[in-house]
This record gives sequence, structure tokens and C-alpha cells, in this order.
Amino acid sequence: MALRVQLCHVDDVPEGKIRGFEAPGVARPILVAKVNGELHVTASTCPHEDVSLLRGRLDGARLVCPGHGWEFDLRSGECGHQPWICLPVFRTEIVDGILYCHMI
Ligand code: FES
Repeated sequence: MALRVQLCHVDDVPEGKIRGFEAPGVARPILVAKVNGELHVTASTCPHEDVSLLRGRLDGARLVCPGHGWEFDLRSGECGHQPWICLPVFRTEIVDGILYCHMI
């Protein structure tokens, strides 16, 4: 059964910024980034090592990890440095201005 969680209002994330939101039933914050008006939702911990991506930076639609500088495409989750590693890309929906994501 899919886990659908409410994250935030769409206006809670400014353009070009990264924010983290707690979600019930999820141990770590969920990362939301807004690029060109589009909201991207993924895990807030780097899949390489246990580093928070909430301290990362955006380079267009790429999220740059503060740990070792690896870049992850927020649209696909692909890592530009290592093909065997990727970020989860959560499916989202917006209802009445509220952003939800589907964890599984
Ligand atoms: S900890 Fe993120 S790239 Fe190494």
C-alpha cells in the first residue's frame, strides 16, 4: 500500500531553494526543491554517505551534495559521478496548493 504524505504548501519553497519537511511515519525530513517553478521531492540524505542534502546547493535541476560535491539530477535521481548510485524521486501531487508525495 502506498504511503502518501503531506509536505507543505507550494509557496513554502521559494524558487531556486531547498527546504526540508518532516512527514509522519518518515524518520528523516523530506527534501523539496523548486526549480523553474517545478517542485522536486527526494530524500534529504545523500545515498553516498550519511550527509544531509539540506545543506547542499542547486545548480539548475542538479542538487550538489556538500559532502563530496557529487551532483544528482532532481528529475531522474541520477548521479553524474557514479552511475550505480541515485536519489529516490518521489511521485507528487498538488491538491488545493498543498504538496503531497508518494513514498512508495
Ligand atoms: S556524501 Fe554526498 S557525495 Fe559523498
